[in-house]
Amino acid sequence: MRQVLVAGNWKMNGSRESIKGLLDGIKAGMGDVNAQVAVCAPYVYLADVQAQLAGSNIGFGAQDIATEDSGAYTGEVSGPMLNDFGCQYVIVGHSERRSLFCEADEDTARKFAAARRHGMTPILCVGESLAEREGNVTEEVVARQLDAVIALEGVAALNDAVIAYEPVWAIGTGLTASPEQAQAVHAFIRAKIAGLDAAVAEKVQILYGGSMKPGNAAELIAQPDIDGGLIGGAALVADDFLGICRAGG
Ligand code: PGA
Repeated sequence: MRQVLVAGNWKMNGSRESIKGLLDGIKAGMGDVNAQVAVCAPYVYLADVQAQLAGSNIGFGAQDIATEDSGAYTGEVSGPMLNDFGCQYVIVGHSERRSLFCEADEDTARKFAAARRHGMTPILCVGESLAEREGNVTEEVVARQLDAVIALEGVAALNDAVIAYEPVWAIGTGLTASPEQAQAVHAFIRAKIAGLDAAVAEKVQILYGGSMKPGNAAELIAQPDIDGGLIGGAALVADDFLGICRAGG
């Protein structure tokens, strides 16, 4: 049985002060949460997050990682640097990185490799745009995004990873995929992996992301191949985030 994971993706939001309040609120409400919980913070707040979460059972990580480990890469933050702050997770290939920052499938694969090389769990985001869904190429797109990672790292690398299916049209729009729509893609992803390695497919957590809220989380997470959520907007409000964590059983 796969454990439910609820991970917050704060994106480029918050301040030292607001993040302190948010984490205080989340920590105070964790008593009746059974899911695994993690938050992915902006780089500059990782030291604060590490200090505030010390001794708690809330994991944390970053939202991106450099492909290289050190050198002349102005503005980048490497795996060894994230290790310095105790990061356990790194989001890779978020649709905002792919679309706004021109990250190709191969770049995402190299970031996935960098996270693993430094002992962190990559949260690999995949998902189709609205035009791709309407053009009936959702499975093709998701398969291509997964294949880039599998080609570089091998299917067994997914043993140390989390996958997040995030339909781009559902991110930050208030439009959630229906449980049936999401389950269909999650089942496709798992079956695709099972075609290469059944044990990896059985083990890997596949999260849903895209306007997940306390009100729709339980129904989504109840689907057989949905193992939790990657939460954007609702992760910025402690009660909403906790509501989703509790919906995880
Ligand atoms: P959202 O974002 O929950 O605000 O739709 C999810 C994500 O981008 O990870």
